[in-house]
Amino acid sequence: MKEINVAVTGGAGQIAYSLLPRLISGETFGENTKVNLRLIEIPQVLEKLEGTIMELIDCGFKQMGSLIATADIKEGVKDADWVLLVGSIPRGIIIDGKKIEERSDLLKINGGIFTDQGSAIGKYAKPNAKILVVGNPANTNALIGMNQANNSSQQWFAMTALDANRAKAQLATKAGVDISDVTNMAIWGNHSPTMYPDPYNALINGVSAAEVINDKEWIENSYLPLVQQRGKAVIDARGASSAASAANAAIDTVKSVDNPTEKGDCFSAAIASDGSYGVPKGLIFGYPLRTNLDGSVEIIQDIKINEFAQSKINSTTEELLSEREAVKDLLI
Ligand code: NAD
Ligand code: LMR
Repeated sequence: MKEINVAVTGGAGQIAYSLLPRLISGETFGENTKVNLRLIEIPQVLEKLEGTIMELIDCGFKQMGSLIATADIKEGVKDADWVLLVGSIPRGIIIDGKKIEERSDLLKINGGIFTDQGSAIGKYAKPNAKILVVGNPANTNALIGMNQANNSSQQWFAMTALDANRAKAQLATKAGVDISDVTNMAIWGNHSPTMYPDPYNALINGVSAAEVINDKEWIENSYLPLVQQRGKAVIDARGASSAASAANAAIDTVKSVDNPTEKGDCFSAAIASDGSYGVPKGLIFGYPLRTNLDGSVEIIQDIKINEFAQSKINSTTEELLSEREAVKDLLI
């Protein structure tokens, strides 16, 4: 069997609880790949992590390889092929008597986590490691991590696949079609309320979703705010941030990066901008992406951006620039 080393931070958290079994079940990396898991947690939580580890062992998956639990990020990411950076604080919690309302309010609390982690990944993970940031605010945390890693052969992603899945589900329900009929869903920009889940370039059975739905009022005043605010709606209802759907989206992202994208389709994740679509170079920006047969990931070019889309892309770019400004002390 082939072997792969996968490091996951926040191993004792709620997303990890849904994520970890699916990483070692054969579903994510294939039936014939043994997955060596490195679970990284803060020292206070290592004991609790033991419970999750017992359960992983008790699943009895034949794809489970070695298992390490550690609070040492260097040990955790050593020779990692994939690093899933989930560990960080979710919004909704109360700090100094104030509720953390927006993901960007987490920058000060979570941003610092990604400096040491980024630097360890740059030095100790494999030269071709792929890194997915789930912890919020995901785009700017990824910017910090990638900057500190300073290793251009590794590839950093921030997760927007959950937004893409949410958007597809809403479009499919509205159009009365199966979710698998919805393709080409691009989430432009930040994983925040300024994201733009593009209904004009998304396709329903090959035709523009906006055209099929033919209801501009619904698109602008129902669909967009619903997708943009879905994370908050889940927190309000559940009293905790999305976990099963977030884990599912992380797995979707890993599979999308590791396997060629179907012709005519795309997947959504945020990566370092190369200037495409006028976005300043280096910002971690949500784009429609394709994985090529040789394994390279590219930004799909020449997508038609209408005036409405351009205004949304401009505002999400502005937000990411201001987040970058807010963390400039954490960038090298
Ligand atoms: P959680 O509080 O249940 O778990 C987080 C875990 O991270 C905890 O066990 C904590 O001990 C650990 N942790 C904290 N600092 C760490 C560090 N420095 N190193 C290693 N581990 C550390 O939270 P959760 O519900 O699992 O969510 C985790 C993060 O994912 C949050 O920031 C949340 O906002 C984010 N999230 C992102 C998306 C997305 O679409 N990008 C979706 C859902 C949640
Ligand atoms: C989500 O979109 O569900 C997560 O980013 C959690 C949150 O804070 O909304």
